[in-house]
Amino acid sequence: MALYLPGLGDYIRVVAADDNQEFINRVLLHASASTVFRLVGQAATGRDAIHKAEQLAPHVLIVSRYLPDMVGLEVAEQVGRRVPGVQVILVDECPDVPLAVEAQGRGVRRVLPKSVSREELEQAVREVVETARRELEEAARRFPLFAPGRHPLAPPKTEEPRLQVVTVGRETIAFYHPKGGVGKTSTLVNMAAALTANRVLKVKPVALDFDVDYGSLAAALGWGHADVEAGRTVVHWAHFSQPPQSLEETEELLMHHRTGLLALAAPRNPADEGLLTAELAERILDTVQRFYDPVLIDCTIDLRDSTIIALQRASRVILVSTLDYLAIDRLTKFREKQESLGIPPHKCFVVLNRTRNNAVFSVRDAVDYLAKLGYTFLEALPYDPGVEDAMNRGQAYFLENPRSEYAAGIRSIVHGIWRVYPEDRPARRGGLGSLFGRR
Ligand SMILES: Nc1ncnc2c1ncn2[C@@H]1O[C@H](COP(=O)(O)OP(=O)(O)O)[C@@H](O)[C@H]1O
Ligand SMILES: [Mg+2]
Repeated sequence: MALYLPGLGDYIRVVAADDNQEFINRVLLHASASTVFRLVGQAATGRDAIHKAEQLAPHVLIVSRYLPDMVGLEVAEQVGRRVPGVQVILVDECPDVPLAVEAQGRGVRRVLPKSVSREELEQAVREVVETARRELEEAARRFPLFAPGRHPLAPPKTEEPRLQVVTVGRETIAFYHPKGGVGKTSTLVNMAAALTANRVLKVKPVALDFDVDYGSLAAALGWGHADVEAGRTVVHWAHFSQPPQSLEETEELLMHHRTGLLALAAPRNPADEGLLTAELAERILDTVQRFYDPVLIDCTIDLRDSTIIALQRASRVILVSTLDYLAIDRLTKFREKQESLGIPPHKCFVVLNRTRNNAVFSVRDAVDYLAKLGYTFLEALPYDPGVEDAMNRGQAYFLENPRSEYAAGIRSIVHGIWRVYPEDRPARRGGLGSLFGRR
């Protein structure tokens, strides 16, 4: 998985922009001797610097104070708006204090002289990335929406939960289960609502409805047939010979939801389902992954090519399941073939949905069983008639009733992905495994 901010041992990816080739050569020379960063791109104009920042998603953009078409501060501002994960360092012949103050106000992380030594540059690059990471983590901890929620049926936590930060990274999340009606679409829509409602976490989510024949993402977002007909679906994308090159072009090809979520609906006419070929699925993902993070994909229940592509290219697969025999049995069958399809189980996370006390199987039994399958349990979402009611009205229940247990569960999932990972839960004995245990 491509990390947005690198961990220890990863190279920091840098793009340098200056029309003065001498400075670029200096960065290149430093990079070639550095174990900290690599130069992955260069630009000689402001426009090209912005383009490279979007295309290459570097961790750091080093930009000169003056470029032929723009000043470096303008470039910093635009990059901050379009690709907020890119940290900007401004360089000048002899920077002074007023420049440093102004630069800070316009989103620049650090101002350096062009004569910077390798050691100084390494230190600066490392520091800006570490500061950005700390800020994200701090924001995630402070912001109340991210208080970890817990479902009473979820397994007990032993003393203080031992949490380990693993990634502040780009995510492509496929929502899958080989059975319909388990809550894939509703979980996706409510997670998207939790993400767009969050004012601190700087993510730009896009939702793709790959469930081409029964897709209900548009309806769940409150769009009617007319909206879908007038809007953008995967079918539209089949007709472009040339993929969109810029953020603006891409934005025109997506539907814009009032919450800020961007989406690509399933075709209005199910007869068009064949248009979403593996090749088109790849093309759509190539484009949206460049400009958006996270990419949320609603999948079909059958393992057709486009769904396999989504599952393979996902950084995570969220398996939304209910607690009934049929759902768990089908999940077991999926487990038996997923590796041969190139979908490793370690990236699969289970959300148990519509849980209730009087279900045939308890959440605890299911968690045991899932652990045996090699899946990580994420959360149990309770049955709540409000979820269905809100979905029928095209609303996200998460926003309508943020104090509900369901919303707390959604927050907990979001929290788990965008900040911390629980360490491995201890394996337990017994449970569903004995009923379904073919492994
Ligand atoms: N936790 C829940 N409590 C009550 N109803 C739910 C819950 N989750 C989903 N539903 C409802 O169950 C139905 C199926 O959910 P949906 O998300 O469309 O499933 P899928 O996408 O897997 O086919 C929808 O009517 C939805 O509103
Ligand atoms: Mg669905």
